[in-house]
Amino acid sequence: MEKKWWHDKFVYQIYPKSFKDDNNDGIGDIKGIISKLDYLHDLGVDILWLTPFFTSPMVDNGYDIADYCDINPLFGTMEDMEMLISEAKKREIYIMMDMVANHCSSEHRWFKEAIKSKDNPYHDYFIFRDEPVHPEHKSCFGGEAWEYVESLNQYYFHEFAKEQPDLNFDNPKIMEEIENAINFWMKKGIRGIRFDVIHMIGKEIDNGIYGYGPKLHKRVQELYRTSYGNYDIITVGEAWGNLNDALDFTLPERNELNMVFQFECTSSTNDNQRHGKFTPKPIDMKYCKDTWIKYQNGLNSKSWNALFVENHDLGRCINRFGSLDYMKESAKAIATMIYFQKGTPYIYQGQEIGMLNIRMDSLSDYNDVEVHGAYKDYVLGLKDITHEDFMEACYKEARDNARTPFQWENSINAGFNLGTKPWLKINPNYTFVNALDELKDPNSILNYYKELIKLRKNPLYKDTFVYGTFTALDIDNKDIFLYKREYNHQTIIILVNMMDKKIPYTIPFEIDKVLLKNYNKEYDTKEILLSPYEAIVYLVK
Ligand code: GLC
Ligand code: CA
Repeated sequence: MEKKWWHDKFVYQIYPKSFKDDNNDGIGDIKGIISKLDYLHDLGVDILWLTPFFTSPMVDNGYDIADYCDINPLFGTMEDMEMLISEAKKREIYIMMDMVANHCSSEHRWFKEAIKSKDNPYHDYFIFRDEPVHPEHKSCFGGEAWEYVESLNQYYFHEFAKEQPDLNFDNPKIMEEIENAINFWMKKGIRGIRFDVIHMIGKEIDNGIYGYGPKLHKRVQELYRTSYGNYDIITVGEAWGNLNDALDFTLPERNELNMVFQFECTSSTNDNQRHGKFTPKPIDMKYCKDTWIKYQNGLNSKSWNALFVENHDLGRCINRFGSLDYMKESAKAIATMIYFQKGTPYIYQGQEIGMLNIRMDSLSDYNDVEVHGAYKDYVLGLKDITHEDFMEACYKEARDNARTPFQWENSINAGFNLGTKPWLKINPNYTFVNALDELKDPNSILNYYKELIKLRKNPLYKDTFVYGTFTALDIDNKDIFLYKREYNHQTIIILVNMMDKKIPYTIPFEIDKVLLKNYNKEYDTKEILLSPYEAIVYLVK
C-alpha cells in the first residue's frame, strides 16, 4: 500500500458553535478554537475537521451554506480563519473542512436569483418541477420534500429542510461551482475534506432515485480530477450505504475518496424504518462487533477505514455503547475497542472527556431542526408517538445530545464563555465532567485518551497499529472483543469486555507485556476475571 502522510494521524472533529466562545456572545467561534490549539496539541490530535464555517443563516447549523467562499460572521472573519490555519500548522495540526455539495441555503444568492423567473440563469441550479414528483418521498427533517414557490408556480426539491434546496447536478454549472469552491479553500491551505451526504449527488428525482444514482461515481471522480485530487489532502465521505458502496468510493484506483464513514453500528440503535431515529432500540453489541469486523475484513487490504463512534449527528458513545454505572471504564473500553483497529481514528469534541447525552426539560430547549420536524410529523400530525415517548427518544437519539457546549472547567458556563447564555443548554454534569479537572486526575478519561494516542504513535508499535493486519479472534463471543494486529513479526492483541459484568477469560496467547489497561491490575496469569468494561492491550511473545 502506498504510504500517505495522514495514515498515522488522529482526526478531531470540532463543532465550532459549541467548542469555545471567545467573544462571549453565546456562540463558539474561530478565535475560541485558536485559544484551544495547545489543548488539542497536548491531546495528540493532528487534523481538525471543522463542521461548516461558511456564511449561513444556521437553520441547520451551517449545513445550509449561503456563500461557499466566505466565513460565517458568527464565527469570525477570513483573517481569523487564516490565523487558525497558520497557528495550527505551527503545531503540525492541519484543517479539514466540510463540503456540503448536495444542497445550499435558500439564502444563497443562487437561490434568490433562481426564484426570480424560470429563465433566470440560476433557475436551473436547483430542482424545480411544476408538480411534486414522487411525493411519497418525504424530507429527512419532516414534512414534504417539495416546497411551492408562488412567483414561479413551481415546486423545488429539498431532501433536508425547506431552507436547504438541493442543487441540480445535472447542470454542469453546479459541478463547476463546487470545484471552484473546493479549489478556493485548497489554495488557503486546507488539507482535508469531509464530504457531506456525498452519496446523494447522483440523484435522479424523476426516477425516484435519491442516493447512489447511476452518475454518482463519475461526478465524484470529476470533482477529484478538477479540484482536490490535485492536492495532497485527506478525504472522507459521509456516505450512508453498505460495504460495497464503501468500496466503490474508496478503492484507490478509482480516484474518489480515501475513506467513508459507515453508519451500520451507530444507527443500529433506532428503527429508522418507522420514525426516523425517534423509535430507539437497545444496542445489540454482537451486531456491532460483527459489523466492525466486516468493515475491517472488507476494506483493510484494499482501501482504508474511518474509525469513529461519535459525531455531531449522534448520541454520545457512553450512552450508546457503554454504561452510566461504569462511565469511566466504559468510555475507555469503547476507545480501546475502536481506535486500535486499522484505519484513521476520528474523535468528536467532548468524547475525550466523556461528555454525555443531556435531558432537556422541554421541547423548546431543543434547537435542532430535525427534532422539531419529527415532532410535527409524529406527535402532532400522525399522533403515533406520545409527547413523553418522543422526549425519551430525544434523550437517546437527538442530535443536540452531541451539540451542548464543550465542558472546559467547573466554573461559570463550564468555561465555554464568560457567562452569556450559550445558544444551547450546558449539560449540568460539567461539575464533574470537564477538561480541567480531568487533566489533573491521572485516572481520567482524558488522560486515558492521551495515553492511547501516544501508544498508537509510539515508534516501537506504530507500524503495527497503522499498517499491521487485523484479525478478529473469538468471533462468536458476544461479550468480548478480541483482535490481533500483526506486522513484521510483531503481534499486538486488544482484549475488551464490552459488558457491564465480570467475565472469566483464558487468554489464548503468551504475554510479553501490557501496553495499555483501564484497570489498575497486574496480569501475571492467563486465567483472568475481566471486570466490567475492562480493556487491555498486550504485546505478545
Ligand atoms: C449530514 C450532516 C448533518 C446535516 C445533513 C444535511 O448528515 O452531518 O448534520 O444536517 O447532512 O446537510
Ligand atoms: Ca462567539
